[in-house]
Amino acid sequence: MEEMERLLARAAQSLCEASAVVCLTGAGVSAESGVPTFRDAQSGLWSRFDAAELASPQGFERDPGLVWRWYMWRLKLLEAAAPNPGHIALAELSRTFLKFDLVTQNVDDLHEQAGSVDVIHLHGSLLRFRCRLCAHRHRLTEAERGGEGPPACAACGDLVRPDVVWFGEGLPLDALKAASEAAHGSDVMLVAGTSGLVYPAAQLPLIARQAGATIIDINVERSAISDRAALFLRGKSGEVLPRLARALQSARA
Ligand code: APR
Repeated sequence: MEEMERLLARAAQSLCEASAVVCLTGAGVSAESGVPTFRDAQSGLWSRFDAAELASPQGFERDPGLVWRWYMWRLKLLEAAAPNPGHIALAELSRTFLKFDLVTQNVDDLHEQAGSVDVIHLHGSLLRFRCRLCAHRHRLTEAERGGEGPPACAACGDLVRPDVVWFGEGLPLDALKAASEAAHGSDVMLVAGTSGLVYPAAQLPLIARQAGATIIDINVERSAISDRAALFLRGKSGEVLPRLARALQSARA
């Protein structure tokens, strides 16, 4: 049996014995769908700008047009993307457990498009917009998408912004609470496609491990999570997750 098969069988065995599973996903899970990771998204056209300029309240204050155009570009990329076999395998896996919580740092909706429900979004959504001042929800028009800058809020006239968590901002408290509770109560935590460098999301595997859960990390390269994981499955999530789902089926048979 090749090494990967052995690791998959061990991971499947842990899942077989688990009654509560949590999965934490990051940008790597959407990479195979053509959604660039945050760092990749700063390539080409946008490489001369740094993250603080494009994704912080201060950056938005300084140059709302620049930030708006960057988000409209990312939105367009996202709308051309479709879920990959990793998203689909997770949605299928989730249906085979009584308790399965999916927590994502991604601002796309590819988990939902693949059929996952009640996804906990820690960093908001690129598909939602709100006023930066009064938080009034805003539905984008075609003209606003192609605009040079953000539209004005219909309720208060201030600027509309993407409903994502920017650097220096707090996470939505309900999402963070739900994710921490799920981590506390889990027997197994799957971690897929995240560098494990951005807190507080990166804290979740630590919470789960302290609570006695087995951590299984899936990544194309070792990450900050891998050393803390009981099992590291190296590879693309779009390939490893479907293999893991099949291994679990065999282990249950
Ligand atoms: N399969 C599995 N892992 C992958 C794949 C793939 N096909 N492609 C890339 N990866 C891994 C990379 O090796 C890296 O460890 O995905 C990880 C992506 O790391 P980041 O770009 O740091 O993404 P993430 O961990 O989601 O970042 C967290 O930081 O950029 C901010 O707010 C943004 O939500 C994001 C947060």
